[in-house]
Parts: sequence; C-alpha cells; structure tokens
Amino acid sequence: MRGMLAAVVVCLAMIPAGDIADSGKQSGPAFSGQALVRPTDYATWPVVGTSLGLTYSDHPQSGPGAFHRVYMNPSAYDQFLRTRSFPDGTMFVLEEREARQKTSILRGGFFEGRRIALASSVKDRQRFRAGWAYFDFDNGARATATAFDDSECHSCHVAHGQQDSVFVQFYPALRGGD
Ligand code: HEC
Repeated sequence: MRGMLAAVVVCLAMIPAGDIADSGKQSGPAFSGQALVRPTDYATWPVVGTSLGLTYSDHPQSGPGAFHRVYMNPSAYDQFLRTRSFPDGTMFVLEEREARQKTSILRGGFFEGRRIALASSVKDRQRFRAGWAYFDFDNGARATATAFDDSECHSCHVAHGQQDSVFVQFYPALRGGD
C-alpha cells in the first residue's frame, strides 16, 4: 500500500505543473512537420479581445476598417488566468471580418461580415528560436502554414506587445483590471 502510494506520488511529480494535457482540453497547436495545422474548432475557444479598424499602416484607411477578433486555446487561457504567464503550447487565432452596415433594419452601426483573414501565433520555446512563431492561413484556404521569418512578424510583437510579445494591452480578458 505504501509502495503504491509512493508510485502514485512519483507519477504525479512527473507531470509538469500546469501541463497542457492536464486540463483535460485538447485544443491547441498541432504540427505537420514544420507546418502548423489550421485549427478547425477555434470558434469554440475563448475570445480575449475584439477591435474595429486597428491598423499599423501609415496610410490612413477610408471607412471603419475590419473587425479583429482574437481567440486563445482554452487550456492555455485557463493556465494564464492562474499564472499570468503564457505556457508553451499557447495558441492565438486572429480572425478579421469586414465591417458591414445598413442591412435589413439597420440605420447605423457596424456588424461583422465575411471573414477576410485568418492568422495565428504559437508559443513553443523548444521549437522556435524567438519563443513565438507566426502563421497565415490565407483566410482559411491553407490547411497548414509555415512560420514567417522573425523579422516579418515577431519583431513588431516583441517591441510593442505589452507582455511576452502579445498585445495584451488590447485584450480585456487578459490584461485584467478593466
Ligand atoms: C507593425 C506591427 C505588427 C506586425 C509586423 C505584425 N503584427 Fe500581429 N499584431 C499587431 C497588433 C497591434 C496586434 C493587436 C491585435 C490586432 O491587431 O487585432 C496584433 C495581434 C496579432 C495576433 C493575436 C495575438 C497577439 O500576439 O496579440 C496574431 C496571431 C498576429 N498578430 C499575427 C501576426 C502575423 C502572422 C504577422 C506577420 C505576418 C504579424 N502579426 C505581424 C501588430 C503587428
């Protein structure tokens, strides 16, 4: 009996604290070789923030711009709320949708129209030199995507994202407080 208990304790000790698998939810990054597989179930993931018309281009846009909605895989989200840090295996999905108006009874305001972009980021310090890598699924046309060079995506994220290369400042569900 004592031996069994010791064995159980040893087994538990082998599971890293907060391991992704230990939350019982499987959704998260899956790779095919070097390529990230497009998640098919991200619509069920927590939405950490939404925005309208965010742009980092010098050319001012006409109209409201696009809606951005950022999803986070559930197990990493649960863990972030407990630890306030992003575990390896964190995955974000950034979905962009056109802003539509004046349909049906609407006189004002904007609602989300067709999806126009689908991008993703993944944290994995073993796999990626910068800790994070960034992917574009060509609005869902690609079943897998390979990582961009750090200079194309990560450079801006690491310089301006508030926490660990993530734009936490724009996500109420992550920034806490307000
Ligand atoms: C010049 C700065 C800049 C560059 C370059 C950039 N991003 Fe971002 N990214 C942002 C900002 C600002 C946000 C905040 C939310 C938004 O735009 O909806 C963001 C958010 C994201 C998110 C949501 C998770 C997070 O980290 O906040 C993903 C995924 C993402 N970007 C993917 C990419 C990909 C893929 C590339 C390269 C093709 C890229 N980004 C290049 C500024 C940048």
